[in-house]
Amino acid sequence: MSQNTPQLWDHLWKINTPEEDLYRLAQEEYSVRWRKIKDRIECNYGSFPGLKVIEIGAGTGTYAALMARQGAEVTILDYSERALDKAKIFFERNQVKANFILQDALNLPSELLGTFDVSMSFGLTEHFLGEQRLAINRAHFDVLKPGGLTFISVPNKYNPPYRLYKFVAQLTGKWLVGEEYPYSRSELFVICRKLNIAENQVFGESLKQSNYFLDLLNPWRLTNKFLLKRKMAETPTRFDVSALKPEQATFLDDYVSYALVLYARKPVVVKEQ
Ligand SMILES: C[S@@+](CC[C@H](N)C(=O)[O-])C[C@H]1O[C@@H](n2cnc3c(N)ncnc32)[C@H](O)[C@@H]1O
Repeated sequence: MSQNTPQLWDHLWKINTPEEDLYRLAQEEYSVRWRKIKDRIECNYGSFPGLKVIEIGAGTGTYAALMARQGAEVTILDYSERALDKAKIFFERNQVKANFILQDALNLPSELLGTFDVSMSFGLTEHFLGEQRLAINRAHFDVLKPGGLTFISVPNKYNPPYRLYKFVAQLTGKWLVGEEYPYSRSELFVICRKLNIAENQVFGESLKQSNYFLDLLNPWRLTNKFLLKRKMAETPTRFDVSALKPEQATFLDDYVSYALVLYARKPVVVKEQ
């Protein structure tokens, strides 16, 4: 499996059409995950204006864009130049502002430490193992002010559609995103214990999101790739924002959904580790 490097991500990031960029942000705004994150931030801080937020390994920076829309001052950090190019276009098209930083999250400059109210990542920390896995999680707390909040969204080991898709994609050489090691809820709690983070919680996105992996495994889709490509060329994909609806939450989301989110607070007084 390819290693997690800036070159791997530079190669993978592609610029979307303007319609797709507007659609992707609107789609996430209707997600259960966004509603849960927004509720927690509003419950803690009241509202977004005045908050300093950083998205680490941001790629497009979808959540930073959602928070910028609510009035937060957002920073996008990624070590892939191509990811930052894509993020700049995404922000411009969605008419929101950000600071963009090209930087390895495992080697953060001192001026970023202790300066944010909220840190977050979506699909970053599962690309690390061993000491680096703990270090990348720690980086989310290092950038926070005392009492700041972090949201770390990762793939769930116990989401069957994702595990099945990953297995098939790796077997057939279709897995493109390099090394990726999903988490369990208990691993996230162990990480908090190791980092002396007492206030923590794990919640999930909507389980229905995993239908995406089942669609990718659809036998018709796999065997008729040629026909599918032709059909797609004939019928351009529509990114119809008006057709979007709020996602429904279920009691299973926190346990078996694809994305688990570690929500934690940096202690006001940091203990020795
Ligand atoms: C799977 S993508 C996730 C992007 C985005 N959050 C999303 O959900 O679309 C992982 C991103 O993390 C970035 N990344 C990986 N390791 C990094 C590191 N050590 N420092 C900074 N960025 C990193 C990659 O360049 C890539 O853009």
